[in-house]
Amino acid sequence: MSSNDPLEIALRELESLEQFSIAALVAASSPEALEAARIEYLGQKQGKLKAAQERLRTLDPAGKRVYGQRFNGVKQSLEAALSAARLRLERRAVAAGAIDVTLPGAIPRLGHRHPLTQTADELIDLFGRFGFSVARGPEVEDIHHNFDALNIPPSHPARDPLDNFFLSEGTMLRSQTSTVQIRVMEAQRPPVRVIAIGRVYRPDTVDATHSFMFHQIEGLMVDRGVTMAGLKTVLRLFARSYLGHDVKIRFRPSFFPFTEPSVEVDMLWHGGDRWVEMGGAGMVDPNVFRAVGYDPEEVTGFAFGLGIERLCMRRHGIDDIRLLYQNDIRFLEQF
Ligand code: DAH
Repeated sequence: MSSNDPLEIALRELESLEQFSIAALVAASSPEALEAARIEYLGQKQGKLKAAQERLRTLDPAGKRVYGQRFNGVKQSLEAALSAARLRLERRAVAAGAIDVTLPGAIPRLGHRHPLTQTADELIDLFGRFGFSVARGPEVEDIHHNFDALNIPPSHPARDPLDNFFLSEGTMLRSQTSTVQIRVMEAQRPPVRVIAIGRVYRPDTVDATHSFMFHQIEGLMVDRGVTMAGLKTVLRLFARSYLGHDVKIRFRPSFFPFTEPSVEVDMLWHGGDRWVEMGGAGMVDPNVFRAVGYDPEEVTGFAFGLGIERLCMRRHGIDDIRLLYQNDIRFLEQF
């Protein structure tokens, strides 16, 4: 019976480890004894099972396969024996009156979706009902998608290194989700009706309404005959559905290189005493269509980009954006 094959030796030892350890677990007659046996055999640091696992390294690939499989079996039977032993001791303690089963249990703390996640999910749901599907794009973007294809000229102040997180050669943390418009149009022909939700990055000084990272929802609709009236309708409908029927929004003429005409959209803040910018929007500039190979003679489109934090804050009456990032459970539990 005595073989010198390392695999066979290892398997024999595994076998006896299994027998001894199960015997020890079964024999444990108190929680302390069981814990001692658990540490001896199943202990994470110096347990014998752990040592048996390390033995794997000494075997050749074929041996590893055989031994590994057997090892997993032994591990499972040890864990099963441990739970069985625990249950046995617990039952005995209950029977002996040592455990008062009428005491209330510890109430497990339930997890919770972050208010920004809730907002994003609601926006996806709402725009889904308007027929918009969800698109995604990378947070590490190239200059082409963040600026060039969006008709932002090389000299435009939006490219200022002090206003962007540039990374290595030609890449950056995207400063707007408008990048996803380009990615979607590069990948598909019109008609298009998508939203994109995600993080954007700008080196702004943090205060009650600014953060160096925040979230935007971008919308894009392209087809024959899409109009500015359609854009205003969609945004009004959206604002009413998400912020309530009595919400007031207004459109101000503005400028973005990727839309013409462009507007900024404001909402009357909770309290009703001031207007706060919700985002920008407009009719897709023909140059943007040309950059992605769409024919501006054939289709028109509208686009919008809104700040998700502000929507969430307006909806829930939150006055400081920083509360959304501090992960204070007392704050988060309110939503
Ligand atoms: N990307 C702009 C920003 O971050 C917002 C924006 C304006 C998005 C107009 C659009 C748009 O899609 O049409 O400031």
